[in-house]
Amino acid sequence: MKFFIDTADLAEIKSLASSGLLDGVTTNPSLIAKSGRDFKEVIKEICSIVPGPVSAEVAGTEYDQIMKEAAVLRKIADNVCIKVPLTPDGLRACRHLSDDGAMVNVTLCFSAAQALLAAKSNATFISPFVGRVDDIGWDGMQLISDIVEMYQNYSFKTEVLVASVRGPLHVIEAAKMGAHVATLPPAVLRSLFNHPLTDKGLAQFLKDWQGTGQSIV
Ligand code: G3P
Repeated sequence: MKFFIDTADLAEIKSLASSGLLDGVTTNPSLIAKSGRDFKEVIKEICSIVPGPVSAEVAGTEYDQIMKEAAVLRKIADNVCIKVPLTPDGLRACRHLSDDGAMVNVTLCFSAAQALLAAKSNATFISPFVGRVDDIGWDGMQLISDIVEMYQNYSFKTEVLVASVRGPLHVIEAAKMGAHVATLPPAVLRSLFNHPLTDKGLAQFLKDWQGTGQSIV
């Protein structure tokens, strides 16, 4: 499973990139607004830190505007992945951009039917929002399972990018289902390390080691 990080916070991206665990980055207009930075500048900087796909979302909703914005974003770096909304115009743009060699992430997916349309539009990634589906009392992980199963039936090239992840259980369940990618808020990625028995065991080992009076170097 590939790990992307869902943030436009450069300090977080730099810090987590050094872990060797990052395969890409996703941003959205809300995350860009939160960063307080210029959109194109911040995307350029992220692309220079992480070599994998960096999703940059268009703001236009009509085909012509989406294509104009995508042309600008594609020039920023080779690893920019154009993020488009799951709408008729977004998917039309997805098809054209993908045929032209661009990576495309189709966002705001909340149903298996929408995911099928994105795969048929040659999306590189489909982003189902698991947390937001859970938030309205539906089963977000069932959506992921349905999409993974459907894509496997037809060998679609589109990768399932699990978005709106709220905690480690979403990540584990998505990995068990065979989702290709999870995009994680930094805190969720860090939380994957945590286990009380690791902390307890390490404390005991260090105590016992100190008791030996030895040093390795
Ligand atoms: O970037 C898309 C998605 O991951 C947003 O998640 O937490 O705003 O529902 P969230």
